[in-house]
Amino acid sequence: MKFFLDTADVEEVREAVAWGLLDGVTTNPSLVAKTGKTFREVLCDIAEAVPGPVSAEVTATDMAGMLDQAHEYADLASNIVIKIPLIVEGLKTVKKLSEEGIKTNVTLCFSSTQALLAAKAGATYVSPFVGRLDDIGHEGIELIREIRTIFDNYDFGTQILVASARGPIHVRDVAIIGADVVTLPFKVFEMLAKHPLTDSGLEKFLDDWKKVPQDKKPEGGA
Ligand code: E4P
Repeated sequence: MKFFLDTADVEEVREAVAWGLLDGVTTNPSLVAKTGKTFREVLCDIAEAVPGPVSAEVTATDMAGMLDQAHEYADLASNIVIKIPLIVEGLKTVKKLSEEGIKTNVTLCFSSTQALLAAKAGATYVSPFVGRLDDIGHEGIELIREIRTIFDNYDFGTQILVASARGPIHVRDVAIIGADVVTLPFKVFEMLAKHPLTDSGLEKFLDDWKKVPQDKKPEGGA
């Protein structure tokens, strides 16, 4: 499973790239708004910092406007993926962009039939939002299970990019189901590596190690 960072903060991207575990980045207008930078600046910095795909979201809601923005963003760097909302104008735009060979990420997906349409339109990725479904009392994870089954039934190549993942349990569950990608806030990415028993176990091993007689280094040796 691939890991993307859900952020517009280039420092977080650089840190995750340094771990050697990051496959790409997703951004959205709300995340970009927090940076105080222009969208172009954010995109260029992030696209340079990570070797994988970087999702850039259009804000137009009609096909002509979405296409204009898509072409503008796609020209900024070769790893830009155009993120498009799951509305009819968006699906038409995805179809056109996929014919042009431009990669797309269809976002704000909340049902399996929406995901099916995105796949039929030729989307590279579809982003179901698990956390926001949980927030309104639905089971976000069930949506991932449904989409996985439907895409496998028909051999769709569209990748399931799980969005709005709020913690390690979401990551575990979607990995078991077989999602292709999960995008995470940096703090959740960090949580994946942490366990209190690892920390206490390491502390104990290091304390005990101090009690082990150490070999003397040979004199003049390196
Ligand atoms: C994904 O592309 C979205 O930017 C993101 O995952 C939304 O997450 P949220 O529901 O925590 O805002």
